[in-house]
Amino acid sequence: MRRTFRGHLATLAVVAGLAACSPAQTLREEADGREVLVGAAARAYLLTEGRYVTTLAREYNLLEPENELKWEAIHPAPQVFDFLPGDQLVEFGRLHRMKVRGHCLVWGRYVPRWLSDGHYSADQLRQLLHEHISQVVSHYKGKVFAWDVINEAMDENGRLRSSLWYDQPGIGEAGRGPAYIEQGFRWAHEADPEALLFYNEAEGEALNVKSDALYAMVRDFKRRGVPIDGVGLQMHILDLKPDIAGITANIRRLTGLGLQVHITELDVALPVEGEGRPRNAADWQRQAEIYRSVALACFSQPGCTAIQTWGFTDKYSWIRNWTKGNKGSPLLFDRDYVPKPAYFAFRDVLRSLPLHVGAPVQ
Ligand code: G3I
Repeated sequence: MRRTFRGHLATLAVVAGLAACSPAQTLREEADGREVLVGAAARAYLLTEGRYVTTLAREYNLLEPENELKWEAIHPAPQVFDFLPGDQLVEFGRLHRMKVRGHCLVWGRYVPRWLSDGHYSADQLRQLLHEHISQVVSHYKGKVFAWDVINEAMDENGRLRSSLWYDQPGIGEAGRGPAYIEQGFRWAHEADPEALLFYNEAEGEALNVKSDALYAMVRDFKRRGVPIDGVGLQMHILDLKPDIAGITANIRRLTGLGLQVHITELDVALPVEGEGRPRNAADWQRQAEIYRSVALACFSQPGCTAIQTWGFTDKYSWIRNWTKGNKGSPLLFDRDYVPKPAYFAFRDVLRSLPLHVGAPVQ
């Protein structure tokens, strides 16, 4: 008997329903079912480590090269681009049906010596930055779905940091406020009109003078039709005391502009001793509650569409170096890739979100 089309649909609905009801085991299965993105910063040189690769592919539907797309890695000399490490991570994402975010096109720090010591004029730097953005974004056109175009351009008071790109000597926009930032967005959009373009910032997650300045800047951009799609809130929590109410309110006002918000670099550092064991056993649970609260602050709001952690295993995190060994254990998996209480708290939040029945449960 020829199955009617409606018969096929009925079967699909039952299968989808069963799939949706069966308790998914991974972050990725939960996220896919809710059409949200859960990702991690990843390192190309670790793609040869078995547990690193299997955990990344199993648990995440999004990845972001931690360092491979930054100037010092991808543009190591004049006219020289090294796309290989970035390509390895982008290919990994393609093979595992993961989205890939790009980080970052314009940052005043960690620029290669040939550039910082090059004594270039503003006109020469303008040409160099335009060429960099065009070459890198074009290379990854259709493969990187979202870019951190500008990273950390503001100081703690919300003023633009002095930098090679702003006023040292800048690209010909010195003293004209965020004009250089606007130019960066326009060049990125010119190179890939489909890519989502983000401004990425640290320490402007809650309501403060910095996030007020960030809000004012992106509101002005939106009003004038600058091609910006979202704001990245890094969310490095180094003191176990995030202002969740402030973070929630800040996400609400940013998404109220019609912008997306991505939590781009979430980690929750614990005081550690020895090989990285938390000093206080109670900190495991405190960390779990913070991950739960941040996940709720984001995913309870429709415009907050992605959460990335900055790495995913405590074995590889910037925190130990940055804090000279005093803090660590910031991520969802421990050094042996065993999920921590924070992993289960984060997954509980994903499970609490409404299912999108049409979503591809992968
Ligand atoms: O690849 C070189 C290697 O060849 C060399 O031998 C080695 C020693 O000099 O350095 C290696 O490069 C290092 C790179 O990480 C890759 O490991 C750089 O020195 C080091 O500065 C770089 O640190 C990264 C830092 O950004 C600066 O780019 C951290 O891993 C990375 O976690 C950190 O991430 C930033 C985000 O991009 C922006 N938000 C803050 C966040 C934490 O600082």
